[in-house]
Amino acid sequence: MNSKFLKSDHIKLYKRENSNYWQMKIKLPRQKSIRSSTGTKILKEAEKIALKYYSGLIKKNYINFKKSQPVFKKIHLVETADLNKKEIEYILNESKKYIKFNKSKIKKINILEGRTIFNLFFEDSTRTRTSFEVAAKRLGADIINVSVRDSSINKGETLLDTMTTINSMNPDILIVRHPEEGISKKISSIVEASVINAGDGSHEHPTQALLDALTIKNKFKKFSKLKIAICGDILHSRVARSNIIILSKLGAKINVIGPKEWLPKNIKKFPVNIFTEMKKGLYNCDVVMMLRIQKERIVGKIMPNQKSYFKKYGLDYNKLKYAKKNAFVMHPGPMNRGFEIDSKLADDVTRSLIQEQVAMGVAIRMACLEIIINNRDRFIND
Ligand code: NCD
Repeated sequence: MNSKFLKSDHIKLYKRENSNYWQMKIKLPRQKSIRSSTGTKILKEAEKIALKYYSGLIKKNYINFKKSQPVFKKIHLVETADLNKKEIEYILNESKKYIKFNKSKIKKINILEGRTIFNLFFEDSTRTRTSFEVAAKRLGADIINVSVRDSSINKGETLLDTMTTINSMNPDILIVRHPEEGISKKISSIVEASVINAGDGSHEHPTQALLDALTIKNKFKKFSKLKIAICGDILHSRVARSNIIILSKLGAKINVIGPKEWLPKNIKKFPVNIFTEMKKGLYNCDVVMMLRIQKERIVGKIMPNQKSYFKKYGLDYNKLKYAKKNAFVMHPGPMNRGFEIDSKLADDVTRSLIQEQVAMGVAIRMACLEIIINNRDRFIND
């Protein structure tokens, strides 16, 4: 058969038996090939026609490709500092469909079928670990839970060795909680799997801040006029850090309130107003986010007396009156009831969004898993 290839095999010109006209076959990456007649018997003309047709297709395809590009293109989620406003909004929007889905009767789709996810928790957690597990299972993925007790860390193997071993099993995503700050980022640089930071020491907890933002968005629709107070043990709280970054990028005003010794030295570098008194800090706030006193991170330092701390900084109905009339209360859990928050207020569903936060956690984590897997397919698995 008479034939010729152009553009490194993307265009084939050929003649059919019993025809003198040149035919073209054009194949673009990841697309079905197109066959058509060039309408000419002259090879030089057929080449020109095919090349013109080919560049038209490339252009159209490029535009479509650009249109279908996600706003969030990363394959890891280790720091909120890495996210811009558009990316945060994109993740929040992608979570919306899962809020509805999680209320339906059958809570399972198989979009992550055949994908392997590891939950690697080197610090205690019930809420976050199960939230990721539920999210992964509802999307049809296989999830393997590794807790510190089963870990070879106890046998002297280093954490990074453990990660390399797990990486050899070809997982798609590793969800990592660990007391060391910055460890998720380190792991993401040595494994091929994607890494989601589920809390690294006092540093960051991106999915918690995203689920908090989603909870707030559901109540207020926008962030631009909101004033949000983040209160208590700011110094040791990864939740505070990630929330300050995410909520301020979304346009909310943030007040941080806590005893002086629990305000980080570099707090002035963050876009926040700083208070040491609840009365002043809560003034005109729409949301009051309480933090758990991180007892496990306050070692070798003096722990405040529960009664006197609660009197000054614990949130109860009386202190909540300093905020806006219908202000909402949030807490990432687990709570130290009677220490940083009044037990009755925490359970009061007319004021407290704490249960709502848990529900939003599953939706956010489903969206994050889906987005990250899609990005892997688009950008590295192809
Ligand atoms: C937070 C955490 O572990 O950082 N909790 C959570 O993710 N559910 C907050 C906390 O432990 O205080």
